[in-house]
Amino acid sequence: MASFPPLKNDLLLRAARGKATERTPVWMMRQAGRYLPEYRAVREEHDFFDVVETPELAAEVTLQPVERLPIDAAILFCDIMVVPEAMGLTVKMVSGKGPTFPQPLTTPDEMERLVSPDIDAALGHVFEALTLTRRQLNGRVPLIGFSGAPWTLMAYMVEGGGSKSYRTARQWLYRHPQASAALLQRTTDVIVDYLIAQVEAGAQMLQVFDSWAGLHDAASFRTFCLPYLREIATRVKTAHPEVPLVVFAKGAHYALDALAETDYDVISLDWTMDPEAARTTVGDRAVLQGNLDPCALYASPEALQREVQQMLTAFGAHGHIANLGHGMLPDHDPEHARLFAETVRRHSAAQPAT
Ligand code: CP3
Repeated sequence: MASFPPLKNDLLLRAARGKATERTPVWMMRQAGRYLPEYRAVREEHDFFDVVETPELAAEVTLQPVERLPIDAAILFCDIMVVPEAMGLTVKMVSGKGPTFPQPLTTPDEMERLVSPDIDAALGHVFEALTLTRRQLNGRVPLIGFSGAPWTLMAYMVEGGGSKSYRTARQWLYRHPQASAALLQRTTDVIVDYLIAQVEAGAQMLQVFDSWAGLHDAASFRTFCLPYLREIATRVKTAHPEVPLVVFAKGAHYALDALAETDYDVISLDWTMDPEAARTTVGDRAVLQGNLDPCALYASPEALQREVQQMLTAFGAHGHIANLGHGMLPDHDPEHARLFAETVRRHSAAQPAT
């Protein structure tokens, strides 16, 4: 592993490991993105996947929110879709529509089109971007790597893009349960290699995004999400026990107890989940991350501050990483992102330790 400058702000990593911290660390999902004028300027010159695939540009965009906002982490600028691409599918980023697969996996037979990638050959640009970003961060804050979860990636691979109900992908679960399991397992194996290689390239914490977990009921989650999420955590921890792992199973209220039993150190909550109820369920088995409604950033400064304070009180002074309940939105005001982070800093430092 390469050697990097020492970390000056390790609040995030300490909190993720369940250690007490002077204040609550804060970062935002999708903190590098279209709400930043400097990001839009890069995108005027370069296609989305060109930014992802050019380490210098990916590093530049990753650093943009860190330069501007008082946040305690950087998250690599990339996308969850690079894994299906590495597995042989073509993905286009269509403006106004999001990621689109011109040839999705309509039937199980089409899984023949998938390849088992050599991770370094297929995703070397991600690892280079991590190493370069980690050097450019110069120890200011830790660098987070990530992957989509098997089910969320399957949902896109089968559906061909974003969708309200993902009924084609969910049809697979009922019509082709064995092929679904095979696809999920194949994706899991790629994700494990990918995450381990991210650590070796410089990632200091890893988050697994199961953005479409909430499409399942409890039983279907236990069959089609949990085993793969669990396996990812176990295998990555075996390789790198020191690296904190975060799981974000959006909408999966019923999953908190089961996720607390896995090797994830942190469970990220969406904004519909109640922090106090989540803490009761999870106990001290995991740190909680989240969960301000991203739309609270549209509120007046006064109302936004009140919302942040309520969130901090609900989570308590320890075992919490402040974040949004989902990602930043393109029309967010960067000044409200600043106020969100500043209020976490100020208010959590003043909060009595419990
Ligand atoms: O958090 C960060 O700052 C790091 C970058 C990041 C992006 N995508 C950049 C991006 C991360 C962590 C992701 C993860 C991702 N990508 C997820 C999981 C998190 C979630 O939001 O649930 C998902 C489901 C995707 C797939 C994806 N990529 C979608 C649905 C879209 C379209 C969104 C939209 O509003 O257009 C993308 C594109 C994308 N990924 C953008 C960014 C900054 C915007 C694209 C652009 O610049 O035109």
